[in-house]
Amino acid sequence: MDILLALKTNVVSVVMAVLVLILLWKIRGKQSSFERLPPGPAPNPLLGNLFQFNIKEAYKYYLELSNRYGSVVTIWLANTPVVIISGYQALKDTMIGLGEEFSGRAVYPLLMKSTYGYGVLSTSGHRWKEMRRFTLMTLKNFGMGRRSIEERVREEAENLVEMFKKCEGSAFSPADMLFNALNNVICSIVFGHRFEIEDPQFKSLLRTVNTYFTVLSSPLGQIYNVFPRLVSLFPGKHHQLFKDLEEAREYCKREAQARMNTLDPSCPQDFIEAFVLKMKEERDNPDTEYNFDNLVSVVWNMFSAGTETTSSTIRYALLLMMKHQDIQERVQQEIDEVVGQDRWPSVEDRQNLPYTDAVIHEIQRYMDLAPIAVPHKMMCDTEYSGYIIPKGVMVFPLLSSVLIDPKLWKNPNCFDPENFLDAVGRFQKNDAFVVFGMGKRACLGEALARIELFIFFTSLLQHFTFKATVPPEELDTTPKDCSFGRIPRTYECYAIPRK
Ligand code: HEM
Repeated sequence: MDILLALKTNVVSVVMAVLVLILLWKIRGKQSSFERLPPGPAPNPLLGNLFQFNIKEAYKYYLELSNRYGSVVTIWLANTPVVIISGYQALKDTMIGLGEEFSGRAVYPLLMKSTYGYGVLSTSGHRWKEMRRFTLMTLKNFGMGRRSIEERVREEAENLVEMFKKCEGSAFSPADMLFNALNNVICSIVFGHRFEIEDPQFKSLLRTVNTYFTVLSSPLGQIYNVFPRLVSLFPGKHHQLFKDLEEAREYCKREAQARMNTLDPSCPQDFIEAFVLKMKEERDNPDTEYNFDNLVSVVWNMFSAGTETTSSTIRYALLLMMKHQDIQERVQQEIDEVVGQDRWPSVEDRQNLPYTDAVIHEIQRYMDLAPIAVPHKMMCDTEYSGYIIPKGVMVFPLLSSVLIDPKLWKNPNCFDPENFLDAVGRFQKNDAFVVFGMGKRACLGEALARIELFIFFTSLLQHFTFKATVPPEELDTTPKDCSFGRIPRTYECYAIPRK
C-alpha cells in the first residue's frame, strides 16, 4: 500500500512539475515575441507585475512608472503585456497621430457578457466604425424627432429641481435622485420618453445599471475579468446581474420590434426609431451591421457609459461647491446677473458665463473620472518611439498624467477655476483637458455630457445653495473607489431654496 501511495505521489509531483515547465516555456515563448516592447519593471514569470501594486489605485502606480521609465512603459498582468502611454505629447502622437493603429478596444469578459461583441464601446474595426458614425450622427439630432437633446435634458433638470424642493431644506442624499435623472435623459433619447420613478420597467433598468457598476468596480468583478469561467462557478451578485442584463436586452428588443410597424419613416422620434429605420433601409444588404444585436448593445453602451459618469460628476460638483462656498457664491452671482431667476438656463448662456464654465471644467479636471480612459487594443504591429507594440496588445492611455502635469496647468494639484481663466477673467480653453479621451475612440457622448453638466449644474445653483451637514473642512473629496473610475463618495447635504 505504502509503495502504491508513494508511486502515486511521485507521479502527481512529476505531472505538476511538467505542467509548470510547459507553462513557463509558453510564457517565455510568448515573451520572446514581445522583444521590442517598451521598458518596464521586471515581471514575475507567473504573475507578471500583479501584486506589485494596489489594484484599487493602479493608476498611481502607472504614474510612478511613467516618471521612472518615460512616456511608454510595459507592465505584465499575469502573462499579458500592457503598454501604458502617458504625457500630452505621447498621447497626441499615438491616439491622434497613429489613431487607426491605436483604435482597437481591449476585450474585458464583463463588457463582453453585456454586449456579446456587438455595439460600439467594446467593438473594433468595421463594426465599431459603423456603429460609432451612426450613433454620433443620431445624437447630433439628425433625424430624432422634433425635440432637441437640450430640451430633453432641461425637462429632467426641471424635474430634479422639483424633487430637491420636496426635501424642504432638510438633509438628504442626492445620489439616487441624480442617478435616476441622468438615466431618464438616456431613456428620453433612446425610448422617446422619460419614466416615472415608480414605473416597474424603469426600476428594473435602474437596478441593472446600478448592479453593473457595483460588480464592475468590486474585487469580484475584477477577478471575473481575469478568470471568468472560474468565477461563474461561485455564487455572487454577478449571477443576478447577468439575469437582469438579459431582461434589459429583451425589453429593448421588444421596444424595437413594436416600432417596426408603427414607425413614421419621415420622422423617427427617438434613437431606437432612427436605428430601426436604418435596419429597414439596409434589409437587402447581407453585410449590414444594422440588426437587433447591434441596436440592443449600442443602447446598453449608452446606459452603461452615459449615466454613472455624468451623475457622479454632478454629485462631485455639489460636494466641491459645499467645500468651496466662495466659489459657489461667485457662480450663483454670475447666474443671477446673466440668467436671473425668471427663466431656466440654456446652453446659449454658456458663452456669457465664463466663470461658471471654468468651474465646470475644473470640476472635471480635478475629478479625473477615467484615469486610464477605457483600455485600447493595437490593431496592428506598430513602431513608436523606437519600440514595437504588437497587434492585439492592450494599451492604457494614462489621461491622469496630462490632467495633473505642472507644465500644463497653473495650479494642477488643487481645485482652482483659475486653471481655465485668463488674466481678465475670460474662459480659457486648454488642449490638456483630456477627460473625454483623445483621438478616434474619444467619448462618443461628449457633446451630450457637456449639455447635461451645464444645464444640471446651472439649474441647481440657480435654485439652491448647497450646504454640508459637517464643517466644510471635514468634507472628504477623495474618491470612494478608484478601480474602474474615480467614483466620488456619497454624502448628505442641505439644498436651501434661493427664492
Ligand atoms: C462626464 C461624463 C463623461 C466622461 C468623463 C466620459 C469619458 C469617456 C472616456 C474617457 C471614454 C474612453 C475614451 C477612450 O477610449 O480613449 C469614453 C468613451 C465612451 N463614452 Fe463617455 N464619458 C462621459 C459621458 C458619456 C455619455 C453621456 C455617453 C452617452 C452616450 C457616453 C458614451 C460613451 C461611449 C459609447 C464611449 C465609447 C466610445 C468608443 O468606444 O468609440 N459617455 N467616455
